[in-house]
Amino acid sequence: MLKVGIDTLSFYTSHYALDLARLAEVRGIDPNKYTIGLGQRNMGVPSPDEDIVTMAANAAQAAIRDIDTQSIEMLLFATESGIDQSKAAGIYVHDLLGLSEQCRVVELKQACYSATVALQLSLSFIRQHPDKKVLLIASDIARYGLNTPGESSQGCGAVAMVLSANPRMVAFDPEYGVVTENVMDFWRPNYADAAFVEGKYSSKLYLNMLEKTWHQYHTRTRRAFEDHDYYCYHMPVPRLVEKAHQHLTKINGSDKLSDHALHAQIGCSLEYGRQIGNSYTASLYVGLVSLFDLTTDDLSNKRIGFYSYGSGCVAEFFSGVVQPGYQKMLNTSQHQKLLAERTALTYPEYETFYSFKYAQDGSLCEIPTYRTGAFRLVAIRDHRRIYEKCT
Ligand code: HMG
Repeated sequence: MLKVGIDTLSFYTSHYALDLARLAEVRGIDPNKYTIGLGQRNMGVPSPDEDIVTMAANAAQAAIRDIDTQSIEMLLFATESGIDQSKAAGIYVHDLLGLSEQCRVVELKQACYSATVALQLSLSFIRQHPDKKVLLIASDIARYGLNTPGESSQGCGAVAMVLSANPRMVAFDPEYGVVTENVMDFWRPNYADAAFVEGKYSSKLYLNMLEKTWHQYHTRTRRAFEDHDYYCYHMPVPRLVEKAHQHLTKINGSDKLSDHALHAQIGCSLEYGRQIGNSYTASLYVGLVSLFDLTTDDLSNKRIGFYSYGSGCVAEFFSGVVQPGYQKMLNTSQHQKLLAERTALTYPEYETFYSFKYAQDGSLCEIPTYRTGAFRLVAIRDHRRIYEKCT
């Protein structure tokens, strides 16, 4: 059977972060609640001139570096932080990157799940058109109210991947387990700029859906827990992922994993998320980038189990096998430089970024220049967003 999957993969996040110890100090909370209770150290905070488009373009620029862009006939942009009710954010990225006119561009939404449906749709497309490629971008800004329980699980990031036949990084297995249920655990009405959430309920659903999707996947594949060498999970907070992995172990009849075994199976995939926070639909794939960048193991021919969860809710369990030679495709030093060189925000700076007001009346709103990657949002004029390539 034709192999289809990830040919190139890259990640981007804001150049600014808030140390959760600073947030804890201001909120009068024991910092251990964040670092131990949630397993989170920092949250990525977008500057006013950074949005889902600029993050996406930065991630995608690296992902298409050695790709013949004429072969990219589809750009799927997964997000729940949309900037327009009508126009797909991917069209701005298509323009900023100078992609071919002969390319479909569309935006997909279903909370943190949409990148996974984009992946599955892309794989079907490539099986039908093996000479074509798809650029899949997941880009999100996780935003809750100030001083709410969700606040410490904010974050931002984008992942871009080129999907193709005979991929150089990961070939996906065709089977999956998928579940949809109409639940109100997390949602954002059109008039709100931050999510509403039933935090504890959402965490329970995350675990229930893992169980359901795993059983379906297991029935279809007969693959056991041990048939997967590594696991990547959607990561709202790292501690929930650790709990989910122990839960999966338990429902498969095994003893609780030791810290060593837990770290070996999911540890590296959690690390970037601990540093950037939730990046909603990008988060599962940030986990994959983190695993690739940080493991010292040779991942060749290893099978990874993936758990995708999007509130509302749709969840899916699927798997893929890492392709020999994948090491040549890594962008590790670029990712690590970006994370290492982020500016640590003070609490007042964080609030200023959080509360920045964009003009909504069509008047000219010039956005101050902050540290960004190769693209920035320059202004909003006549209700139009204006982006610029800076380097
Ligand atoms: P919370 O109220 O901040 O935290 O909610 P908590 O009171 O449950 O405490 C968390 C843990 O810290 C507990 O451990 C405490 O004991 C511990 P646990 O009992 O869970 O093992 N703790 C401490 N540990 C050490 N030292 C201390 C200390 N104090 C307390 N001093 C919650 C946490 C994740 C619910 C909150 O951050 C939230 O509402 N986040 C947003 C929603 C969310 O992330 N839900 C997760 C599943 S839903 C999902 O993944 C979808 C999503 O990504 C959206 C989408 O799909 O688009 C969110």
